[in-house]
Amino acid sequence: MITFHNVKKTFDDGTEAIKGIDLHIDEGKLVALIGPSGCGKTTTMKMINKLIQPTSGKITIEGKDIAHKKDVELRRNIGYVIQRIGLFPHMTIEENVGLIPKLKGRKKEEYKKKVDELLTLVGLEPSVFRKRYPLELSGGQQQRVGVVRALAGEPPIILMDEPFSALDPISREQLQNELKDLQKTIRKTIVFVTHDMDEALKVADEIVVMKDGRIEQIATPKELIENPANEFVRSFIGEERIQSNLNLASPEFKKITSIMEPAKVDSDLNLPSVNAESTLKETALLMLTQNVNQMLVEKDGKIIGMIQKNELLSALAGLGKGA
Ligand SMILES: Nc1ncnc2c1ncn2[C@@H]1O[C@H](COP(=O)(O)OP(=O)(O)OP(=O)(O)O)[C@@H](O)[C@H]1O
Ligand SMILES: [Mg+2]
Repeated sequence: MITFHNVKKTFDDGTEAIKGIDLHIDEGKLVALIGPSGCGKTTTMKMINKLIQPTSGKITIEGKDIAHKKDVELRRNIGYVIQRIGLFPHMTIEENVGLIPKLKGRKKEEYKKKVDELLTLVGLEPSVFRKRYPLELSGGQQQRVGVVRALAGEPPIILMDEPFSALDPISREQLQNELKDLQKTIRKTIVFVTHDMDEALKVADEIVVMKDGRIEQIATPKELIENPANEFVRSFIGEERIQSNLNLASPEFKKITSIMEPAKVDSDLNLPSVNAESTLKETALLMLTQNVNQMLVEKDGKIIGMIQKNELLSALAGLGKGA
């Protein structure tokens, strides 16, 4: 889908931000770029939508050199989520999200339904949020809208530059899970920049580790942890994660669905819910912080099951059916 052919970027002041990268990103994959501050992640990403021009080498999308494409056209087909969200403050949520479909010449009746679907998908009830302005939303809700806006134009490619970094750990966790769920249904090609190795390991199909304008390793999360290419990658992953990977089979990393009971028809829908992608450990933390003995399990906006605290605790202790 997206290929970098020996791409280099030297800025006008002589900074060699990218010292030659070759990278191929397959269609439908979520690829995370990770590395220390200043290693060239944002520069790499901005070269894909031509906010930055490479000094040499070329980038192709579906085999075609993007240097020959018009910037505006290219960008309409590439969703872009930035850390500071970038919603237009004077437009309602509905207008923000509908902007690209509108620019693409779609009729309002056509995209309105899609916008509502997407808002629902990220847990924002359209009837409540449609007419609000960005400042009337919490930071986490604004970030969800940012993600929805990038998706609304149905671009085949989405670039996300540290999209969740401003969030508290719980919202961040939820959005990571939602992104994974979403990716399973929409199958877009997503390039995702992050500082956070846990986030990369969790959401990415492939991880690109960068250092000082070069790529150190490209691997799946599993390969990366099992076979770090060199000392730098090893230290960037962190000894702790490498060691704990040895215990990945331990109960705390199991999916919550492994101990879930089917939800009963009369389940109390006021209970808090946890995403089906969550692990036992994450769910236990949520139960503790929310001080509840039961939780619902939610997948794609539907309740699919129920968790009992005592079941969860025995599973974590390696005793229950989840062990
Ligand atoms: N317009 C510019 N002019 C000169 N140097 C620049 C410019 N933009 C970025 N750089 C430099 O290029 C290098 C790579 O920057 P980039 O923004 O790609 O890093 P990054 O990996 O995204 O870092 P962070 O994790 O802090 O966001 C840095 O040394 C940065 O200072
Ligand atoms: Mg950056």
